[in-house]
Amino acid sequence: MNDPIKTLMDITHTYGDICHFKFGRQHIYLLNNPDYIEGILIQDHKNFIKSRGLQISKRLLGEGLVTSEGEYHDRQRRLIQPTFHPNRIKAYGDIMTSHAVRMQERWKDGSTLDIHKEMMHVTSEIISKAVLGSDIKAEEDEVGVALQTCMEYFNRLQMPFGELIEKIPILPINKGYQSAKKKLDSIVYSMIKEHRDNESKGVYHKEDLLYTLLQAQDTEAGIGRMTDLQLKDEVMTIFLAGHETTSNALTWTFYLLSQHPTADDRLYAELSSVLGDKDVKRIPTVDDIPKLEYTEKVFRESMRLYPPAWTLGRKANNDYKVDKYVIPAGSIILMSQYVMHHDSRYFSNPDVFYPDRWTKEARLHLPRFSYFPFGGGIRGCVGEPFAWMEGILLLATICRHWKTYHDKDHKVGLKPLITLRPKYGMRMKLERRI
Ligand code: HEM
Repeated sequence: MNDPIKTLMDITHTYGDICHFKFGRQHIYLLNNPDYIEGILIQDHKNFIKSRGLQISKRLLGEGLVTSEGEYHDRQRRLIQPTFHPNRIKAYGDIMTSHAVRMQERWKDGSTLDIHKEMMHVTSEIISKAVLGSDIKAEEDEVGVALQTCMEYFNRLQMPFGELIEKIPILPINKGYQSAKKKLDSIVYSMIKEHRDNESKGVYHKEDLLYTLLQAQDTEAGIGRMTDLQLKDEVMTIFLAGHETTSNALTWTFYLLSQHPTADDRLYAELSSVLGDKDVKRIPTVDDIPKLEYTEKVFRESMRLYPPAWTLGRKANNDYKVDKYVIPAGSIILMSQYVMHHDSRYFSNPDVFYPDRWTKEARLHLPRFSYFPFGGGIRGCVGEPFAWMEGILLLATICRHWKTYHDKDHKVGLKPLITLRPKYGMRMKLERRI
């Protein structure tokens, strides 16, 4: 498939809510009805396993949340989900804004840069700091670079014939990946050791995610603490799952704002009113988030038009009935956020960027799985509260000081890999506001 998004959209327009096609010998069913999707992700989720690229990802992520299955997954999820509760992640708000401020200190009025690169950089810094704590300055860049190397590698492996890359170990890309993985493993293990040592000495000065993961247990369910290997797999998983999606969402949001000056003006007006005019250096905090209603709508609408996770796949363990059809065991089921979010049955003028469509009433009346950037159910995004907080705080911190203009000579295109990247990056000109 040269252009998978266009292909899925075309198939949907021709065949409707349930479409069947073959890819090689594999039967694939594309479902475009929120109720069917709810059945698969919620009511009948036990009949399905995740399928896409799992074996490849396991090599880096081991048995972390994204790649594990069945009882083991459910047990780990029970331990990890509470560590992402909105109240427990509040402390990361300052990490998010302080990194955004640091990034802007490098920015120059009138300069042009690739905002996608900037967002990848800042979100990977944020996730490593939030997970590992604050005393690793010297290693921070190493973590960022190693993370990028691993991410690139996985994206390459997912491309057509990508598996062949692994078969030629002497390729520089394989060597680069192996050394990045080794580096990440060793940093994470040494941080686990440091955290455990601190804990045994009674030193609890950090409220980072590794510390909360290390302590996580569920006595009611008889689930004890994690071993070093389990912790390492979960930390790597959170590193990898926890930054590219958010950075894509932010990149597309900056692009949309540059194309819609009225929305951009309204966003800026909201920031001025919530953060006040007196102290231009006032940095947004977690407590401002409920007041940043328009900012939230902008981020929500951006993830409708450019869902960072653009499709979900599941494999059926047993035959599965959908409406009057039976999907045979072994089939792959695709549910595409991109397709669903552009469906005019749920969103009028679906191609138009219109943050005001997200009224309270609209949210109440839309079927649950007509908008699902974070998936749902037991395999839904465990980092969703973190992502909302990061998206809104970064937009607020950056847009308060900068207006961004898309460089018109620079092409814009979609690159649907694991996440929905901007194909050519995103070149933008910066104009300082205050
Ligand atoms: C805008 C940002 C994000 C989007 C759109 C997003 C989207 C998703 C989606 C759609 C899934 C479900 C995949 C499936 O059902 O097959 C998922 C799972 C996951 N996400 Fe996110 N994500 C985002 C940010 C984050 C962040 C910030 C973290 C961590 C800090 C994170 C950690 C995870 C993990 C660990 C899973 C696996 C959950 C499980 O299977 O139990 N994500 N994400």
